[in-house]
Amino acid sequence: MNGESPAANSITVLVVDDEPSNLTSIEKIFQRDGMTVLTAHNAREALDILRVHPVDVVLTDVMMPATSGLELLRAVKQLAPDVELVLMTAYGTVEAAVQAMRDGAYDFVEKPLKRMTIVKTVRKAAERRSLTLENRQLRQELSVLVGREIVGSSAALRRVLDIALQAAPSSATVLVLGESGTGKELLARFIHQHSSRRDKPFVAVNCSAIPESILEAELFGHEKGAFTGAVSKREGRFARADGGTLFLDEIGELSPAVQVKLLRVLQEGEYEPVGGEPHKADVRIVTATNRDLAGEVAAGRFRSDLYYRLNVIALTAPPLRTRREDIPLLVDHFLTVYCKKNAKPRLSVARETLQKMAGYSWPGNVRELENVVERAVVLCRSDTLRLEDLPETIVENENVTDSTITFGVGTPLDEVERRLIRETLRHAKGDKSVAAQLLGISTRTIYRKLGEEEGKPREE
Ligand SMILES: Nc1ncnc2c1ncn2[C@@H]1O[C@H](COP(=O)(O)OP(=O)(O)OP(=O)(O)O)[C@@H](O)[C@H]1O
Ligand SMILES: [Mg+2]
Repeated sequence: MNGESPAANSITVLVVDDEPSNLTSIEKIFQRDGMTVLTAHNAREALDILRVHPVDVVLTDVMMPATSGLELLRAVKQLAPDVELVLMTAYGTVEAAVQAMRDGAYDFVEKPLKRMTIVKTVRKAAERRSLTLENRQLRQELSVLVGREIVGSSAALRRVLDIALQAAPSSATVLVLGESGTGKELLARFIHQHSSRRDKPFVAVNCSAIPESILEAELFGHEKGAFTGAVSKREGRFARADGGTLFLDEIGELSPAVQVKLLRVLQEGEYEPVGGEPHKADVRIVTATNRDLAGEVAAGRFRSDLYYRLNVIALTAPPLRTRREDIPLLVDHFLTVYCKKNAKPRLSVARETLQKMAGYSWPGNVRELENVVERAVVLCRSDTLRLEDLPETIVENENVTDSTITFGVGTPLDEVERRLIRETLRHAKGDKSVAAQLLGISTRTIYRKLGEEEGKPREE
């Protein structure tokens, strides 16, 4: 769907009227227009049809013997909330029709019916329904995007995801710690997606990006006239996150005044709009910081009582340099994402490029890696990412090869191989899959080579 009106031949309309001759003539009108027409003589029949048949628009008479059009409207809204309903009103029932519109009817047409009018109205109703469906689809797609996949198979990441999964269904506050770019916000969204609040809003607030003077009003909302400039009542992020999850990012930057207010919400389960009455807060709170929050508490910059309330469950997103085996997976993931985004064919990565990346320390963690891959995809002129597509800081980075091995001329090749493998393994902190990546061989080969070595008495 693309926002255009649905073609008439894709519209299904259900006509409900107790008068058979009306039913036949209306049926003809819509059929001539190319729509699919279903008919029912009363509300019960109509509901039976709706239960089994996809319908876009119900066109119903208001005055019917057993169940009126208004009662049918309510039943339809229960059964199939996004089916649109148009009422046919006779003289004297217009008032009822107006009430019906308040109850969710799309429109009403007056009897005697005019062909053009009813066709136009039903088409418009169908158009609104298709927009509703389209919006829902977009929202779903968005939530898939928003609940972006967490890539990585390292034990360190899996441990964190396990805790997050365990914590998700509860309403406990979660504190996400970790260096910048490690995926703290992603974890917060992951928790939301795996909680029963997933269909309600996930509202993220970056506490450091909002000036201290307006943060309180931004979080809790304000009444009209609560302060100079508060020209109208405004709802805050707590209200917007109602039933869902409120993600307070950079919580370490909260001013003492707002810390007190937040503590109150956590203690009382209520928040107070500026100048207004307290409201019940049905919000799951997840916070994050890249500061050492315990240190901030010790230094007296962060309230300890608030810290303990926020820290019911703590997760630490591990830095990328401690889980290097995730690097190739992340490179692969972001290559797919950014090649698609830039409408390029899927690029491959030269081994030396991957080696460089696997050996770099990534102080900006996954975000830095993501940026590097995006940049490389944009700059790359061939079908393979090469060293020259990486930023100089990474290319010139020597931390992988900082341990150099020297061999005397004539050193037997198998010895060179073994020492190289052992040295690389040491460098990869014993992680065979990382060492294999760096050496461009399979982990099996490493096992095999080392296995061979075990069999033979050797020097060292
Ligand atoms: N494991 C992962 N898999 C896929 N993408 C990831 C992963 N971790 C982080 N990212 C991506 O890296 C970027 C940074 O992640 P995020 O914003 O969650 O980090 P952060 O810890 O909140 O960073 P900061 O402290 O700078 O706010 C985002 O684009 C996110 O989607
Ligand atoms: Mg963040």
